[in-house]
Parts: sequence; structure tokens; C-alpha cells
Amino acid sequence: MIPGTEYVIEITYIVAAVLFILALKWLSSPVTARRGVWAGEVGMVLAIAGTLLYRGIVDYKWIAIALVLGAIIGIPLGNVGMTAVPQRTALSHAFGALCVTLVGTAEFYLRAPNVPPFLMSVLSLEVILGGLTVTGSLMAAGKLQEILPQRPITYKGQNFVNLAMLAIAVAIAVRLVLHPEAMVLYPFMVGIALVFGVMMIVPIGGADMPTVISLLNSYAGLSAAAMGFVLNSKLLIVAGSLDGASGFILSVNMSKAMNRSFTNVLFGAFGQVQTSGAAAVEARPVHSATPEEAAAILSAANKVVIVPGYGMAVAQAQHKVRELYDLLTKKGVDVKFGIHPVAGRMPGHMNVLLAEADIPYDKLLDMEEVNADFPQTDVALVIGANDVTNPAARSDVGSPIYGMPILDVDKARTVMVIKRSMNPGFAGIDNPLYYLDNTLMLFGDAKAFVGSIVRELSGGGGHG
Ligand code: TAP
Repeated sequence: MIPGTEYVIEITYIVAAVLFILALKWLSSPVTARRGVWAGEVGMVLAIAGTLLYRGIVDYKWIAIALVLGAIIGIPLGNVGMTAVPQRTALSHAFGALCVTLVGTAEFYLRAPNVPPFLMSVLSLEVILGGLTVTGSLMAAGKLQEILPQRPITYKGQNFVNLAMLAIAVAIAVRLVLHPEAMVLYPFMVGIALVFGVMMIVPIGGADMPTVISLLNSYAGLSAAAMGFVLNSKLLIVAGSLDGASGFILSVNMSKAMNRSFTNVLFGAFGQVQTSGAAAVEARPVHSATPEEAAAILSAANKVVIVPGYGMAVAQAQHKVRELYDLLTKKGVDVKFGIHPVAGRMPGHMNVLLAEADIPYDKLLDMEEVNADFPQTDVALVIGANDVTNPAARSDVGSPIYGMPILDVDKARTVMVIKRSMNPGFAGIDNPLYYLDNTLMLFGDAKAFVGSIVRELSGGGGHG
């Protein structure tokens, strides 16, 4: 190794660690998020470059092959549509955790039976967390991609079975710490962790999926931090801890947003309240309206709150929504946006789309902020959102989304809902909002319907 390379590696690692911290800081606001992504990417390139200078590397051939293979898999994965980002993220966690588990296993068999107790403790933590994250993330990706049934599967004593499995894996880990020569137990520990990952996701369905993805993110980070101790890599410890801690904070915030107990979330024992399943959509009468009528109501309003959801993302209606916002604002209507933390299919999904369409950030209000406004709002215009506006979450104890905080659009004077049919949203349940007297259904594709309203308004159709 060229003299001084060690210092270069150390400095590269320090700069990478600082960039990771800055990336997280900048990612926490939409205004600086782009910079955050850049900082994270540059940090990761530096971390890889520094590692490639490491003197322990004896042969670059396999590393080159792995880099090419990784790029071949990674590039198409990075090009999926935004609505598929959660399952793509789950796959990234699965790959990361697989790497951690394999490295841990290789380290064990290289060193066994002479594994010092501290090393065996962190190695066990690494492979247990890594193993359950591999299969848990694959299950989550399969459910989100609808390759696997999304319905939660529950049975009596499920929590007990899951906790017992985890306890057995931990007991094996303790035994290996005390007696690393009991090598025969190692595959059982990893195997149980892999099965636990599957069992942990089996009872999770519908609305609880976002929380579980961020929890798996946290587990992947913590297992990488444990691997840092095993490999004596400070950078891995820092990066893994940042990942673990930020994923954990996100999980806590998400479970608050979904009104779920975090203890339940931690043990994967949530989501099993789904008793009614995909409730049949009732054939009750609803009031519907045309684009002309909707445009007239909007231009007569003083205060409008737009509530976007998954359907706006699918229809890519955000630019039309921006035109609508411009026209109404020009007419003197006060227009704001109500953003639910789990609207769409990934955290921040709506913020990203509306930012892409240059909607001013100060017009995007969080759920708590905007809920206080609905009773004074003339029109709540729901665009492709469903579950996040479902009043059953407030009143129907048997509902699978009971307890989830929602946007109180039903408290506005008039509610207008753009969607194509009476079909349910992600949670697969009917929405009583659609049958209220103050609700008008605007049936159609979000982009086309908003486009028609925009045409009406720009043609001077309004009377406000
Ligand atoms: P959903 O409840 O999924 O409802 C979306 C609605 O959009 C559907 O009812 C659908 O009705 C309509 N839609 C679909 N395509 C459309 C189009 N082209 N034009 C107009 N409407 C269209 O969405 P939401 O209210 O945003 O709630 C999000 C749900 O996803 C929650 O249950 C949440 O827990 C879950 N989830 C969230 C995340 C994150 S992190 N945000 C991740 C995974 C799951 P039609 O078919 O009748 O048009």
C-alpha cells in the first residue's frame, strides 16, 4: 500500500460520515431534500472509494464482478415509478440485510470456535436482525407489489408463537456467546431469524404497511452497525446507527400518524384487527356532479382545501392541480393543501409530487394544522385520496383503520371527491364519506377531471 493511504482512508471515512449526517438533516425538509440526496450519494461514493483502498484487499477481481452485478440489478431498480418506491425500498433493505447476514456468517465460520464473547454477541445481533430483515422485507415487497396476498393472516396465539421464536434465537445466541464451540447451533439461529421475518409480516396488512417498511429500515441499519463492530469499521458503525436511528424515529412518527401502539409495532404484532376484510361496497345512492358544476362551486368559494392521495399520483395529475391552484388563487380564492402523513404509497409522496409541480411549500399543511381549518372551509376537494379521508377511522370500532387519524374533510361545507368509481382504496374498505349529504362525487380520472375543471374556469365559467 502507498505510504499515507491509511490517512487518506480515515479522512475519506470522516468526510463520508459528515455527509451522511448532513444528508439526514437536509432530507428532513422539502426545501433542502435535493441537497440531502446529493450529500448522501457523494458520501456513499467516498465510503466505497475509501474501502477499495483498504490494504486487506487481496484481489480486486471479485469486487469488480460484484460491482458490475450490483449496477446491473441496481440501475433498473432505481428507475421504477414513484408509486412502486415502497416495494423498491423494501427490496433494498432485503439486499442490504442479506449482505450483512452473509458477511456475519462468513466471519463466524472464519473465526469459530475461537470467537470472543463480545464479538459473538454483536455477530449474533447482526445475523438475527439481518436474517429477519431479509425475509421480512421480501414479504413486505411481495405484499406491496401484490404478488402475495395483502390481507393480514392471523391465528390464535400468533404473538406467543412469534415471541417464542425470537426468544429461541436469542437463547441460541446466548449459548454461542458462552460456548462458541457449539457451532452446530449457528445455522438454527440464522434459520429461526429468517422464519421469524416471514411470520412477523404475515399479520400485517393494508394501512400498517408503511410503518413496517420504516421499521425494517431501522433493523437493516442496526444490523449494519453491529456488522461495523464485527469488522471493526467505524464508518459502518456510524452509517448503520444513523440508518437505524432515523428508521426508528420514522417508525415512531408513522405509528403516531396511524395511531398504533409502538410496542405492538416493535414486535410486528399489529394489523390483526382487520376483521371485516375487504368490505363490499354498498349500493347506496351518492350525489355526483359534472366538471361544470364543480368549477362553479369552486369559483364561488372563499376557502378551498385540496386533499391529494394515491390517485393523484397514479394519474400524474399534479401539474393540472397546479393550474387549478393558479386559476383559483387568481380569482381570490384561498387555496391550501391538506397532506396526510401516509397519503399515497411512501412517506412524503404528496410533498414530492406537489413540489415537482412548484406548489409553494407554505401552502402544504400537515394533518393537525389543516384539520382545525375544515369547519371554516367552503370546499374540500379530494383528489384520488380515499383511506386518509375515511370517517370510519373515527367512529367504526370494527373498521380495520379504526383509530387512524384522518383528514376531517367531512367537516367542510362541501366535499368534492375525484375518483373513477366507488372502488375502495388501499385498505380495501368502503368510505362512508361518499354517502354524506354534503359530498359530491366527481367520477373520472384525476388528471382528466381536474383538466376539465381548469378548462371551465379559464373559459370564464366561474361566477365568483
Ligand atoms: P387510497 O386509499 O389507496 O385510495 C386511492 C384512491 O385513488 C382509490 O380509491 C382510487 O379509486 C383512486 N384512484 C386510483 N387511480 C385514480 C385515477 N387515475 N384518477 C382518480 N382516482 C384514482 O389512497 P390514500 O387515501 O392516499 O391512502 C393511502 C393508503 O395507502 C393508506 O391506506 C396507507 O396506509 C396506504 N399506504 C401508504 C403508504 C405510505 S408510506 N404513504 C405506503 C403503503 C401503503 P378509483 O379506483 O375509484 O379511482
